[in-house]
Amino acid sequence: MRTKIVAGNWKMNNDKKESKQLIKDLKKSIKAEKLENTRVIVAPTFVNLSSSIKAAKNSKIEVVAQNMHQAKNGAYTGEISANMLKAIGIKTVILGHSERRTYFNETDKGLAEKVDAVLENELETIFCFGELLEDRKSDHHFTVVKDQIANALFHLDKVAWKSIILAYEPVWAIGTGETASAEQAQEMHAFIRSIIEKKYNKEVADGVSILYGGSVKPANAEEIFSKPDVDGGLIGGAALNVADFTGIIKAI
Ligand code: PGA
Repeated sequence: MRTKIVAGNWKMNNDKKESKQLIKDLKKSIKAEKLENTRVIVAPTFVNLSSSIKAAKNSKIEVVAQNMHQAKNGAYTGEISANMLKAIGIKTVILGHSERRTYFNETDKGLAEKVDAVLENELETIFCFGELLEDRKSDHHFTVVKDQIANALFHLDKVAWKSIILAYEPVWAIGTGETASAEQAQEMHAFIRSIIEKKYNKEVADGVSILYGGSVKPANAEEIFSKPDVDGGLIGGAALNVADFTGIIKAI
């Protein structure tokens, strides 16, 4: 059975105090949930990772990073490497978020290097990708998604896929209030599984958790999560509110 995951991407939100408080509140609110075969993840900003790890101790909540640099160290002012994250107890890193691609010019090639650095450090990644509105309108969404996955991940061997979680996030649905329909999500997730099966095999394709991201809310989460190829969600805005995030966790 594939692992189900609800991950909150906090983006550039929550200072130290707010991060700790949100984790504390979340701990309390999910206490009663069984959460079998389900992971609950939050991604605070770099400076709040250590204190968030401390706050999440003795709970189901995993603290992950939102990004990292591919090099081990060196003259890259303002950057943070995989081994630095690992040294403070981080096990998972989000890569390729559309905001990184759009505002920080992240490319498939650079992301392939980041994925390699993640694996060299025995970390895991939540790898994000998704088409623009114009791609969908021009019926290129499958090609765009296929290229994003192939360019950054298809050089990996089968074993490496155990450390990969995919997050399909159509850019037109991120922070816009507009969600892909459950059918659109399922259609894309099934397509993603089919290209992985073609490249590797059924075992790899069936084993990888594929999250949907883009305006997931308690009100639409259940329908989206009910689809057979949707294994959870990557949540932005709604992850900043404990009641909303808990509602989404309940939906899974
Ligand atoms: P959103 O963001 O839930 O606010 O649309 C999702 C994401 O960026 O991962």
